[in-house]
Amino acid sequence: MLQLNSNGAEFIKRHIGPSAEDSEKMLASIGIKSVDELIEKTIPSAIRSKKPMQIPEGLSEFEMLQSLKKIGEKNIVATNFIGQGYYGTITPSVILRNIFENPGWYTQYTPYQAEIAQGRLESLLNFQTMVCDLTGMPIANASLLDEATAAAEAMAMIFNHVNKTDTITQPKFFVDSAIFPQTKDVLVTRATPIHIQIEEGHYQTTTIDNTYFGAILQYPNNTGSIEDYAAFIDQVHQAGGLVILVADIMSLTLLKSPGELNADVAVGNTQRFGVPMGFGGPHAAYFATKDEFKRGMPGRLIGVSIDAQGNRALRMALQTREQHIKREKATSNICTAQALLANMAVMYTIYHGPMGLKKIAQKMHGLAQNLEAQLTSLGITQANKFYFDTLHLTGFDIAALQKEALAVDINFRYFNDGKNNNTISITIDETISENDISKVVALFEKITGKKANGKAASAASIPASLVRSSSYLQHPVFNTHHSETQMMRYIKQLENKDLSLNTSMISLGSCTMKLNAATEMIPVSWPAFSSMHPFAPSSQTLGYQEMATELSAYLCETTGFTACSLQPNSGAQGEYAGLLTIRAYHEHHKQAHRNIVLIPISAHGTNPASAVMAGFKVIVVACDAAGNIDMNDLLEKANLHKDNLGGLMITYPSTHGVFEETVIDICDHIHALGGLVYMDGANMNAQVGLTSPGAIGADVCHLNLHKTFAIPHGGGGPGMGPICVNDKLAPFLPGHIYNKNKTGAVSAAPMGSASILLISYAYIKMLGATGLELATAYAILNANYMKSRLEKNYTILYAGKNGTCAHEFIIDLRPFKASAGIEAEDVAKRLIDYGFHAPTMSFPVAGTIMIEPTESEDKAELDRFCDALTSIHDEITAIEKGLSDKIDNPLKNAPHTQKVICADEWKHAYTRQEAAFPLYYIQQNKFWPTVARVNNTHGDRNLVCTCEPVASYA
Ligand SMILES: Cc1ncc(COP(=O)(O)O)c(C=O)c1O
Repeated sequence: MLQLNSNGAEFIKRHIGPSAEDSEKMLASIGIKSVDELIEKTIPSAIRSKKPMQIPEGLSEFEMLQSLKKIGEKNIVATNFIGQGYYGTITPSVILRNIFENPGWYTQYTPYQAEIAQGRLESLLNFQTMVCDLTGMPIANASLLDEATAAAEAMAMIFNHVNKTDTITQPKFFVDSAIFPQTKDVLVTRATPIHIQIEEGHYQTTTIDNTYFGAILQYPNNTGSIEDYAAFIDQVHQAGGLVILVADIMSLTLLKSPGELNADVAVGNTQRFGVPMGFGGPHAAYFATKDEFKRGMPGRLIGVSIDAQGNRALRMALQTREQHIKREKATSNICTAQALLANMAVMYTIYHGPMGLKKIAQKMHGLAQNLEAQLTSLGITQANKFYFDTLHLTGFDIAALQKEALAVDINFRYFNDGKNNNTISITIDETISENDISKVVALFEKITGKKANGKAASAASIPASLVRSSSYLQHPVFNTHHSETQMMRYIKQLENKDLSLNTSMISLGSCTMKLNAATEMIPVSWPAFSSMHPFAPSSQTLGYQEMATELSAYLCETTGFTACSLQPNSGAQGEYAGLLTIRAYHEHHKQAHRNIVLIPISAHGTNPASAVMAGFKVIVVACDAAGNIDMNDLLEKANLHKDNLGGLMITYPSTHGVFEETVIDICDHIHALGGLVYMDGANMNAQVGLTSPGAIGADVCHLNLHKTFAIPHGGGGPGMGPICVNDKLAPFLPGHIYNKNKTGAVSAAPMGSASILLISYAYIKMLGATGLELATAYAILNANYMKSRLEKNYTILYAGKNGTCAHEFIIDLRPFKASAGIEAEDVAKRLIDYGFHAPTMSFPVAGTIMIEPTESEDKAELDRFCDALTSIHDEITAIEKGLSDKIDNPLKNAPHTQKVICADEWKHAYTRQEAAFPLYYIQQNKFWPTVARVNNTHGDRNLVCTCEPVASYA
């Protein structure tokens, strides 16, 4: 029986909001006797799970932490000199405690409601400014998923820019052989389906002609060498191509910037700016480019605009919703990125300031020089003529060194590519001390039997032509908050501007803003997990392997599938990876021509975008008036394209919040025609334990761990989008350079953002099979309770055949446009005055809001939200009846800032009390937006995407 009782795991009652007594009241309001009855009426019996999930019953919070601690002890935290894109770094405690471990920051949603997101928008604008300054580029976005995918995004952007028409005249892309192998791997994965020809070679010996659309090089390169690419960049430009530099952001404090070298795009990772390695992530990649490419840029871009009173206000600019608008014409599928980590990286920069950063970089460089001197005095050859933090060494017994180093938990990078097996590299990061250098020297002394006596060079080992002379990070924000008090207050000041889950519920349909329990978050900061290098020897990573194996098994159990890849770093990356498995399956069966994917019109914009990136042609399927897939249209299109049908992508329950009855027939039909079925798992919160993608007949799905499995949204990332597949597709899951799988990688690290997998693991461990099932049932109960309250005043679009909704439902606001001149945006902004974040706006239906309360909200909070919407309905009725003005009313003027309410002058027809405190509960917990309604078009017409000069604030 689906009932909360005192016998369940302790954590169930912490995670699920309503009490047993409140559940009874809620059921009565819906007019249903039990939760079981509600679920029976909601989920078609044909797809109900036949047996309980094979997941152990829940542990208490204490027990789970104890058990995870033991697993962590199986990881060995070595001293790492591996480098290769991941570096030890010191997270300033003030940032660790006040951002990374602070729900005021990590539970924020993507800043679509700009008025209640000015804090993180400010921080992300700082991030963009930091990236622009260090790369010497005029425009940068607010983060991408990792360095390798950022490189791939850059490749796609310039490919589309150069080849403007449908006929591709410049299909070749030059990849310098000295870029990190994991980046190369992802580039190959991403290039193949869209017919980009990758040509690998050495930049000094390759001639670029007009068949190339571009080139990519790394700075400093794979072995740590600093190369001067100026002449090569000219050559590519002369041939009509564009150049991407993958640049180490720390090195740019000392090296001439990519902008000064005339590169067209600069990408890289900002991990070493205070973000733990975490066995691969999460970290914020950066993407910066020239002004002329700004409209083709992937990801989110923060820009400056004004609010209704003409005050400065920030919001997401330009292509923010690009992937939704462009759908199958999109060139990128980036939705969730890495906002929280971008915020950490820029706060690190703000804390250290330009001089502090430079000092850190100089220290690394100095230690590397010192080490070089010692090692060369032992007769060892250092191959990098110029370097920043990495030495490339040869001329000694590598096997002997490796044995000695492993025995004392020291990791170097060994070049084991079969050709170059006789070198190692040593990278110095911020955590390395002189003492560590002495330990390394002692190892070399041991294997050479000599005594080192070298002296470091007095001049920097950077070529004169590439020494940075231009200034950076001059804006006051980077030169003010250097004491801990200042830093703490700056972080708090920004946090106070933002509404996150620690203020009130965030009922965003399709986004599942549930509790991110503190206990789930705690292990992410433990060094046993956070300090692990993703390319550490497998003998050191047994703890991670154990956790990942267990988590994969649980995810398979919840999806009804047999194999899992934890690699994709977001839902959209999961879509892409899943579609690649379908593509590979067809190719394996000599059916490579099956390149058509059917996608319903109601799908999230990332679905068609991912399909196109995976090399499919998208055919859009209509939906009927009830929001269901239009079966006639589907059958007609599937039959029409049967010879080339690759598959179908569906979201289940549908984006309309309905469990479509016909889903099994749909999947059967696609299979009968030779296609496969991809299920978008964004709505898994309505399935776990009660039904599954396997049960509905799908072949593959992704899971947004940052929705259903409790990873917080972090203000727009991190996220994780693992994919689960059935036996047919298991051989085609993403591989990685460091495992033998034949298929290419979709992320830089083998397990993507591995450290946050711990959150989902802890969530599953504490809820257990019973708790997971109950969570789903209560998510459906909460949604139906709200629906039962709100349908008295609003039209609810779409419901199942018994009149119930799944875990979310849509309110139609379109009629109010005609009756009162009120639009969905007015309601969304007015909710801010009531202390709430708006639900999802105009998706999947324009002019509506989609509410998803999740299981974590209790009845009192659900009631407050319903009271707010009921009161807003009264305000609309007053306009309809002519009791309130059509233009000057609390909805049109919402949200109301403190400044407006406290101003000496008040000219409105309604009172200040009605504006700011329309219901009693608001007096207990008033949230003030810091800007009034933001003007989006003003900002797009006058695009400013970095911190403005201080004078402009005046
Ligand atoms: C239905 C659906 N599919 C896919 C996605 C994309 O997921 P992500 O943002 O993690 O890339 C979303 C995100 O909100 C979604 O709602």
